[in-house]
Amino acid sequence: MLAKLLWLGIAYIMGSIPFGLVIAKATCGIDPRLDGSKNVGATNVARLCGFKFGVATLICDLLKGAIPVAIAFTISHNWLFLSLVALAALMGHVRSCFLDFKGGKAVATTVGVFIPLAFYPMLFSCIASAFVIWRSGYVSLGSLTLVVTLPIFLFLSGHWSFIPLALVVLALVFWTHRENIGRLSRGEEKSWLKKKHEEQ
Ligand code: G3P
Repeated sequence: MLAKLLWLGIAYIMGSIPFGLVIAKATCGIDPRLDGSKNVGATNVARLCGFKFGVATLICDLLKGAIPVAIAFTISHNWLFLSLVALAALMGHVRSCFLDFKGGKAVATTVGVFIPLAFYPMLFSCIASAFVIWRSGYVSLGSLTLVVTLPIFLFLSGHWSFIPLALVVLALVFWTHRENIGRLSRGEEKSWLKKKHEEQ
């Protein structure tokens, strides 16, 4: 029990590491919280500092979700414990203890936590997301597609025990994207090809 609680805390702290801020500051000297969409995630780092630094942020944010969940498997295979570890890492990203309990939108970290939990459903959701981004040009729409399709692929593949987690993540990511959803509905969301968002 103590090991499980300890690991939940460690997962939260790992999720809290603001890789996007560190990478953007170190490479182009920009604080992504102050420019572009004002998000610390990979999309905004790519927008502000360049594609390769966005990819670096994406990989780091993904790993900080995948690693604590993968290690949690060595403590227990209980679906509730694994789901709570995943949520702890995600909440670290969204409410980082290193960023005054503010943070990012939890998409890359969602991909990360589901890689050890349900690899193929997440792979299919990533393919659906990439298709939507390719067709629409909107990364945010692709992110929403990812979390909407995930419970469906989990259901179809028989990973039923992780559907509650996926539904919580669906609500969380819609909430973190509420400004993007507003811009999308007004036709004001910027394509990923554009460098910066208009002032919000
Ligand atoms: O994963 C974040 C993405 O969906 C939206 O990013 O910077 O355009 O708000 P951004």
